[in-house]
Amino acid sequence: MGYLVASVHREGTARGVLSADSWNVQTLQDQRRKILFVTPELTDLVKVGGLGDVSSSLPRALNKQHDVRILMPGYREVMASPNPIRIVGQLEGHAGLPPCRLGCMELPDGLIVHVLICPDLYEREGYPYGDSQGRDWPDNHIRFARLGLAAAQIAAGQAGISWVPQLVHANDWPAGLAPAYMAWMKLDTPSVFTIHNLTYQGLCDAGCMPELGIPGEAFTPEGLEFYGRLSFMKAGIVYSSHVTTVSQTYAREITTAESGCGLDGILRYKADRGEMTGITNGIDQNWNPENDPNLLEGSRDLEGDGKRAHRRYIEERFGLDQEDGPLFVVVSRLVHQKGIDLTAEVAGDIVAAGGRIAVIGRGEAHLEATMSALPERFPGRVGVQIGFNELDARRMFAGSDFLLMPSRFEPCGLSQMYAQRYGSLPIARRTGGLADTIEDGVTGFLFDEGTAQSYLGAIHRAINAHEHPKLIQAMRHRAMAAPLYWQESVSPYDRLYQSLIKERASRALVTQIGRRT
Ligand code: ADP
Ligand code: GLC
Repeated sequence: MGYLVASVHREGTARGVLSADSWNVQTLQDQRRKILFVTPELTDLVKVGGLGDVSSSLPRALNKQHDVRILMPGYREVMASPNPIRIVGQLEGHAGLPPCRLGCMELPDGLIVHVLICPDLYEREGYPYGDSQGRDWPDNHIRFARLGLAAAQIAAGQAGISWVPQLVHANDWPAGLAPAYMAWMKLDTPSVFTIHNLTYQGLCDAGCMPELGIPGEAFTPEGLEFYGRLSFMKAGIVYSSHVTTVSQTYAREITTAESGCGLDGILRYKADRGEMTGITNGIDQNWNPENDPNLLEGSRDLEGDGKRAHRRYIEERFGLDQEDGPLFVVVSRLVHQKGIDLTAEVAGDIVAAGGRIAVIGRGEAHLEATMSALPERFPGRVGVQIGFNELDARRMFAGSDFLLMPSRFEPCGLSQMYAQRYGSLPIARRTGGLADTIEDGVTGFLFDEGTAQSYLGAIHRAINAHEHPKLIQAMRHRAMAAPLYWQESVSPYDRLYQSLIKERASRALVTQIGRRT
């Protein structure tokens, strides 16, 4: 078997005796792989949370070694982008999934985005997953099954484009059916499925199976059946060649009954077989205070006067008293996961200890209402903006002393890393990626229990540290150097892609040899 070197891979139609001529023996220099990165969000065009950021930065970092293209739905914002979209292919319908066109958009830095054009499904007023009131679209199963099917059709060379991926990387439940359709189409292209958040699972009624063209035999506990329903998340886990998730601690957590959201059994099975890995997210290079155009001109020194200038900006923007006491910020989706209610609970204590809080976020109506009530209770001490504003978010990281992030769970979390880069120390629960990216007492403050009491313990340690300028300066300095850019942390994905592609090539070679003997 010595000749089954990992870098041998089949191209063309070799027959007869195995020889260097009939096989394209790729050398180690030619390892540039074609990867299709399937995602429902891309920060360049439409962002809901961290998945948009990872989808925009990880493929760019990988593109140094590979040829990574994005596949995403043609939402209204995408179609309205100033970057022209060329129609390059046509995808057939399947069962109740409509046919659609495939567009190609090149972003200014050369990143190629394949856009799935289907106006009835995607061009709506709202956000990627629901309407402007935040209600999920009732046909999300069709919208995202269509995305998964498109990925499989492109991998099968059925899209009318000459570019055919050697690996499909699907992200979160909206892309979960991509590996499944690939399996049902009997493709041997390897696939990676990344779990960014296990709690959003993409469930729909079993009665939708015929509409989605899902074979009846897939509706078993070993397939995508989940307590009598269909789970897109489970499909991604079961049918992909390898599962990754976005931090090492979260990778362990989701194999437990407590955090496994009912999928811990299959995740343990994958982990035991070496088919699940935790790879901690990096951040994009545009999160760099030295050249971030969103920061105030002439105020980039966030270890010095720059922080003060940004603090003044926040004070004005949020109607806060102007002073030098500790300034806390919240930059978050306002959802249960993020422990927003805990921050509302401790706001009075922070104010009593001389702190001020600026909050930006949007999300669940009752949490928006809870946070919106705070400025009236604490005028000049708490300011709240309900909304999404990237410029303000960046200036808040730059101008604050502390970021409040008491997440109940956190697969990775990017905000704490952005805060660190901009010299704001995160105060966070020791869970998931927060535990992996914050060193307690060095690059932030961690607490253990999801209670106001435990949270307050960390807040008081932070306030004490703030009273010792040398200590806080030293921590800020360490924190600013802590987060890794994707460019520095992309190799685990590179290695994973290479090994899956090589494994598949070896399998194909063995099959060919088997046929000949
Ligand atoms: P999640 O993806 O669970 O929301 P992350 O920390 O991974 O959490 O990513 C959140 C991203 O969204 C960060 O880039 C954060 O700065 C950004 N963000 C969240 N809320 C807002 C907001 N209201 N305005 C601007 N940016 C926001
Ligand atoms: C999800 C998670 C978050 C993670 C992000 C990017 O939104 O909630 O923790 O950072 O995905 O992977």
